Amino acid sequence: MPSSVSLLGLGSMGSALARALIAAGIRPTLWNRSPARGAPFASSANLTDSIVDAVERSDLVISCLINYAATRSSLDRPEVIEALKGKTLVQLATGLPADATELAEWAGRHGIRYLDGRICCFPATIGRPDAVIYYGGDAATFEAHVGTLVALAGKSIYAGENVTNPTMLDCAFLSYCFAAPMAMLHGAAICEAAGLDPDLFFAALPSFSADVNRRSVSFREAIRARDFANVQSALQTDLAGARMWLTCSSELGVDPAFAQALLDVMKVPVDEGKGALDTAYLFQTFRGAKGRLPS
Ligand SMILES: NC(=O)c1ccc[n+]([C@@H]2O[C@H](COP(=O)([O-])OP(=O)(O)OC[C@H]3O[C@@H](n4cnc5c(N)ncnc54)[C@H](OP(=O)(O)O)[C@@H]3O)[C@@H](O)[C@H]2O)c1
Repeated sequence: MPSSVSLLGLGSMGSALARALIAAGIRPTLWNRSPARGAPFASSANLTDSIVDAVERSDLVISCLINYAATRSSLDRPEVIEALKGKTLVQLATGLPADATELAEWAGRHGIRYLDGRICCFPATIGRPDAVIYYGGDAATFEAHVGTLVALAGKSIYAGENVTNPTMLDCAFLSYCFAAPMAMLHGAAICEAAGLDPDLFFAALPSFSADVNRRSVSFREAIRARDFANVQSALQTDLAGARMWLTCSSELGVDPAFAQALLDVMKVPVDEGKGALDTAYLFQTFRGAKGRLPS
């Protein structure tokens, strides 16, 4: 009896996807290049050492290998292509827009329905209602499988027909994903350098982050209206605080690179005479010259 879903790849992320499918009551077929990684799923999934067999067993094939090159070298074989024909391939490895376009074209040439996805969370979050995965490709194909895909991420978000859209959204997510943890660790380093227990800082993080995240409401309004005059915090005030932050943390011996980099960005609009506008104006700074409001 074929299972409804086959999953290719049981690395950190693939294993989390497998656990989420199983938790949703699905018995998936699992394939990994190194079969030993299937051992934890021996009683809850159909394990196979053959990628052809994995693809033959299901109409929905989800692939989460290390990158597109690995995906392509695993799938681009006559017997695998034959088994995939008429089925849906959901590709979840991280890559560049061109990778998504090339794999979508390859799938199209072989009569394989294709969705390109980007996982915007860590393995521990997979399967939760707030886990985010963006998908691009044919809307009807997404609709046909979203009932299964929500098992992987409660927020399985359709990003449009263009298969490169999830990559762009992943890139936007990475801005936050890289900057926020760095900020946490920088704050903890300041505490320790000052002889304070970093836990005093971590204990307040839920409040700090909720307060910062609430700013997204006014940021969205300002960006939509291209109006940055509704000030919660003026750029020049931010910059003065950032100078204090850099001086204080540097004097403690904390590496200044992170604070200096942020201060350098904040200086740009102030030097352009926009210091009285809200922090939201940094959006324009990041957009570059094309995005700037006239002086
Ligand atoms: N982990 C995260 O936090 C996270 C978050 C978002 C997105 N992602 C993305 O998810 C994808 C998988 O990440 P991961 O964390 O699961 O990586 P991982 O733990 O390093 O696992 C890599 C997987 O790719 C397989 N693989 C590597 N080279 C291969 C090849 N040439 N042919 C066939 N299979 C090959 C590995 O098989 P073997 O076991 O045989 O080596 C393993 O299943 C990546 O594109 C990553 O960027 C990960």
